[in-house]
Amino acid sequence: TPIGSGCPVHQPGGVRALLGRTNKDWWPDMLATEILNPNGSSNPLGDDFDYAAAFKSLDYQALKDDLTALMTDSQPWWPADYGHYGPFFIRMAWHAAGTYRTADGRGGANSGQQRFAPLDSWPDNGNLDKARRLLWPIKQKYGNKISWADLFILTGNVAIESMGGPVFGFGGGRVDVFEPERDIYWGSEDKWVNEGVQTRIDPDKNMVIEGPLAAIQMGLIYVNPEGPQGNPHNDEGMARDMKETFDRMAMNSEETVALTAGGHTFGKAHGNGDASTLGAAPSGGDIAAQGFGWVSGEDHGGIGEHTVTSGIEGAWTNTPREWTENYFRLLFDYDYELVKSPAGANQWQPIGQKEEDMAPDAHVPGKKVPTMMTTADMALKRDPEFRAISEKFRDDHEAFKDAFARAWFKLTHRDMGPKVRYLGPEVPAEDLIWQDPIPAGSKPSDADVAAVKAKIADSGLTVSQLVKTAWASASTYRKSDFRGGANGARVALAPQKDWDVNEPAALAKVIDTLNGLRGSMSLADAIVLGGVVGLEKAGATNVPFTGGRGDATAEQTDADSFAVMEPEADAFRNYVGKKKLAVKVEEMMLDRASLLGLTVPEMTVLVGGLRVLGANHGERGHGHFTKRSGQLTNDYFVNLYDMTNVWKAAGDDEYVATDRKDGGEKWRATRADLIFGSNAELRAVGEVYAQSDSGEKFVKDFVKAWTKVMNADRFDLA
Ligand code: HEM
Repeated sequence: TPIGSGCPVHQPGGVRALLGRTNKDWWPDMLATEILNPNGSSNPLGDDFDYAAAFKSLDYQALKDDLTALMTDSQPWWPADYGHYGPFFIRMAWHAAGTYRTADGRGGANSGQQRFAPLDSWPDNGNLDKARRLLWPIKQKYGNKISWADLFILTGNVAIESMGGPVFGFGGGRVDVFEPERDIYWGSEDKWVNEGVQTRIDPDKNMVIEGPLAAIQMGLIYVNPEGPQGNPHNDEGMARDMKETFDRMAMNSEETVALTAGGHTFGKAHGNGDASTLGAAPSGGDIAAQGFGWVSGEDHGGIGEHTVTSGIEGAWTNTPREWTENYFRLLFDYDYELVKSPAGANQWQPIGQKEEDMAPDAHVPGKKVPTMMTTADMALKRDPEFRAISEKFRDDHEAFKDAFARAWFKLTHRDMGPKVRYLGPEVPAEDLIWQDPIPAGSKPSDADVAAVKAKIADSGLTVSQLVKTAWASASTYRKSDFRGGANGARVALAPQKDWDVNEPAALAKVIDTLNGLRGSMSLADAIVLGGVVGLEKAGATNVPFTGGRGDATAEQTDADSFAVMEPEADAFRNYVGKKKLAVKVEEMMLDRASLLGLTVPEMTVLVGGLRVLGANHGERGHGHFTKRSGQLTNDYFVNLYDMTNVWKAAGDDEYVATDRKDGGEKWRATRADLIFGSNAELRAVGEVYAQSDSGEKFVKDFVKAWTKVMNADRFDLA
C-alpha cells in the first residue's frame, strides 16, 4: 500500500500530519510523564548544568581503559560473542548515529535518543537495550562527566581500536536529553518493518521516500538487509535503496561501501532460533522486564548461541573479532548461494567454502561454521558502481582503512555542528568540509561598531531590506544538527544567495552595499548589525549586538550539503515555494520555529513583528496588518483580533478580510497568519501582545527573540 492510503495520520487534501505516527500511537499505555513537564524539560541536571565543564574534568584515559576492559568482560545474562563485545557496541554506535538525516538535521547520536521510544523499540535496534545495559556500570561510575550520547560513540571507537581497527578521532560534547524527541517525524505507517512488506521506494508506483525520512521502512535505520521488501533477488533495487538512504544521511557511494564493509569486518548476525517467541520491545514490555525487550520464550533463554536479533545468522568473515582484509577477500573469492537462516531469513552463503575460511562459532569452542553475506553486502559486488569501489578497497587496504576511519568519524560526528563544539583530547586537527568550517572572526571594537552602524543608517537601506537580509542569514540555523545560522555569512554564497526565499536580486544589492561600507568588520557581523539598525530605525532601542563572526569562503562551503536546507516555505517571511507541501504551512512554521529553538511566545512575537516591519517575501502584502509599515508596533495582533473583520477564503492559501459593515476589503492573509486567530493557544499568546498594556512588552520580547535567532550559532560565545 502506498504511504498514507487510508492512514489516520494523513489529513484531507493529501497533506500529512507534521509528526506522523507518534509514541502515543504506538504505545497508548505509555506513562504520560509529559504532564509533569509541559514545557518539555524533564532534565534532572537543571539549566545550570554545563556539560562541557563536566567533560573537561573527566579522566578520559581512565574511561577508555575501563571501556577496553569491558569489551572482554562477558556477562552471563548476555554472553559476548567470541568473548568480545566490540562488534555489538559498534552496531550500537552506528545505529545511534545512523538515524541522522540531512533534510532537517534531526536524528543522529547527539542527544542520546536511543534510550527512548520509538528508537529503543525499533525492530532494527533489536537487543541494543542489552548493549546499553552493559555500559551502565561505566556510566554510573563516571556520572555527569560523560553523557550517554558521548558514551555510545566513544564506546564504538574503543571497540574498533580494541580489535585493531582504524579510528580518525573523537569529539565529545553531545548533551543528553531526558525524554523522547517529540518534534521529529519518523513516518506515518502503522506497521513495523517486520509486520508486513511495506516500502517507501517503489519506481513502479512512482514512490520516493517522503519528506525528511531516510529509511526504507518504518523501524529500520536504513535498508532491509534481506533485499527490497525482503526480496533477495532484486539487485538493482537493493543498490538503489542503499544509495538513496545513505545519501539522505550525507554519505556518498564510497563512504557507503567503506562503512558497510568496515562494519561487517567485525561480528555476526543473530538468527539461530525462533523469532516468533520473542517478547515485546522495551517500550511495550512487561514492568518486570525492566526495559529489557525481545525476551525469548524458548527454554534456553535465547542468549549466547541462541540469540535472535535480525533473524540472519552468521559472521561475515573468518576473523570476526579483528580488523582484517577478510571481508572483501571472502566477498570476491567465493560465489554465493541463497540460503535460509534457522530463523528463516534470506542470506547468502559461500559455495564450497574452505575450512580455514569458515568462522569460529561465537560460543561453542572448536566448532566452525560457514560465513555469510546479507543481500545488502552482496550489492557491494553486484552493483557496478559499488563493485568498482569494493575492488579498489580490496586491492588497496590502506585506502580502505583511511576511507572507513574518515567515514566513521563523519557518521558519528555529522550532527554535532562546527568543530568549536567538539571536546576532548582526540579531536582531529584537520578541518573537514562537512563541518562547515568558518574562519575565526575578530571582535570589532565599539568604535568600529558605532562607525559601521552610522554608515548603514545613512546608506539608504530600508528597514525592510535590513531586516529581511539579517533574517535570511540567521534563520537557516537548526538546533537539530547545529548547522546554518548567520556566522560565516554563507547567505552571500551559493547556493543560499540564489534561493528563491531570499529574493536573490534584492539580497545581492543589500550585500553589495554592506560590503562597501563595513571596512574591516566581517560581512557576517555587518549583516546582523544591519538588522540592529533596521530595528532601531523601526523604533526599538538598545538592540544588543555581539560581533566576532567570521566569513566563510566558497571553498569552505559544500554547496550540495547546503542545498538540502533550502526552505520550501518560511512563514516568518510569509513565503511558500512552488513545490507542493507535504504538511500545512502553519505546521511548517511550527517545525521551523522548533529547529530555531523558539518557544510559542517567541515564535508568535517574531511573526507579528516581522510582518509590520515588512519582512514578507517579495511584495506580498499578506499579513501586513498595519498602516505604519516599518515601525515595530503590535498592529498585527490588534488588527488580527479586530471584530469588525470578516475573514473568508479567497483561493489557495489566501484569505481576505472585509469590513463587517460596508464589505470593503481590509486585509489579506495566509494560513500562517490566520492560525494566530484560529488556534486557541496561539490566540491566547497573541492576545497578550494585542493588549493595550503590551506595547512596550511587545517590542522588548521581539528584540529578545530576534537576538536569540541572530546569536543561535554563536558557540564561540559560550
Ligand atoms: C550487524 C545489516 C551497515 C556494523 C548487522 C546485522 C545486520 C546488518 C542485518 C545483524 C544484526 C544482528 O542480527 O545481530 C546492515 C545493513 C547495512 C549495514 C543492511 C547497510 C546497508 C553497517 C554499518 C556498520 C555496521 C555502516 C558500521 C560501520 C555492523 C556490526 C554488526 C552489524 C559491527 C555486528 C553486530 C554484532 O556482532 O552483534 N548489520 N548493516 N553495519 N553491523 Fe550492519
